[in-house]
Amino acid sequence: HMFIYIFSVHSLSIVYWHVERHSLPHIEEKHVLITGCDSGFGNLIARQLDKRGFYVIAACLTEKGAQELKATTSAKLKTVSLNVTDSDSIAQTFEFVEKEVGSKGLWGLVNNAGRATPIGPTDWMQMDDFHKVLNVNLIGLIEVTLKFLPLLKINKGRVVNVASVMGRLAFGGGGYCLSKWGVESFSDSLRRDVQFFGVNVSIVEPGFFKTGVTNIEIIEKDLKRLWDKLPPSVKDDYGPKYLDKYMKVQRLSMNTFCDSDISKVTKCMEHALMARFPRTRYSAGWDAKFFWIPLSYAPAFVADVMLRLLLPSPDGNKKASVSRNQVDV
Ligand SMILES: *[C@@H]1O[C@H](CO)[C@@H](O)[C@H](O)[C@H]1NC(C)=O
Ligand SMILES: *[C@@H]1O[C@H](CO)[C@@H](O)[C@H](O)[C@H]1NC(C)=O
Repeated sequence: HMFIYIFSVHSLSIVYWHVERHSLPHIEEKHVLITGCDSGFGNLIARQLDKRGFYVIAACLTEKGAQELKATTSAKLKTVSLNVTDSDSIAQTFEFVEKEVGSKGLWGLVNNAGRATPIGPTDWMQMDDFHKVLNVNLIGLIEVTLKFLPLLKINKGRVVNVASVMGRLAFGGGGYCLSKWGVESFSDSLRRDVQFFGVNVSIVEPGFFKTGVTNIEIIEKDLKRLWDKLPPSVKDDYGPKYLDKYMKVQRLSMNTFCDSDISKVTKCMEHALMARFPRTRYSAGWDAKFFWIPLSYAPAFVADVMLRLLLPSPDGNKKASVSRNQVDV
């Protein structure tokens, strides 16, 4: 019995190893393009894949980001300047990548570039605030994907799209949640369409991590900008103390939820690029696995009550409704 037990545990672990851990051969001949490598997840995954031996093409928005990355990586890693909201810039990156990969095609595309601000109450937003985020996180991601798909088909390669738990549960107004829901559905459609060509599509859904996206100084500065632009009537609805309360709550939730171990996210990206059987969805971080994703399956009223606890309520409310009633009378 003992023997059978040991034998079956052993063979199960071999099966597990093959399914989960067995990496693809010839990594050192494969090219991966990553967007948004200036900082955060993109920067770390570029360095990790470089260590693994891939040909990494790291697309950076800024020259400074590119230089700092090059200083810490092997000579095999190449950087290229890319602004995903600019079609000419995407075309130039494509030319560069096409030359690099030659007839082998591209193995991996990691669509990581993204921005979060403006984030805030929905009625603080103007259309331009939505465009700014959607253009990078969603439209830019779609354009980059379409451009590079032919190179990925050649190699039966892989697309890894960075979404968010906020693409599963929307809270906080602005373009961020919309863009991430869009990334989820674009990736689902894409996966179903390109499976026939042997191209795999994975979605990574990080919870809250310490990166530029959750940088509280940037978020606060932008909230002040939104507040200053508001018409007096909207400021009255919220009351004079609301901005401070809202910023305090943001600061508290970023400090409570943000995990500084961003390698939890890049491990998912590595699995999606290197495992024999990549997954469709990866959720990264304890808050994602045990709070946000479960909450996203809860009835809307439960999620509403939970999320309401995380936000201050406007002071001006009472006054606004009283004066409205008076007008009605
Ligand atoms: C990116 O491209 C857009 C569209 O051309 C432009 O408005 C924006 O300023 C560019 N961003 C940077 C950082 O160069
Ligand atoms: C990866 O692609 C293969 C071939 O098209 C397909 O059978 C498999 O289901 C895909 N896996 C994922 C996670 O998309």
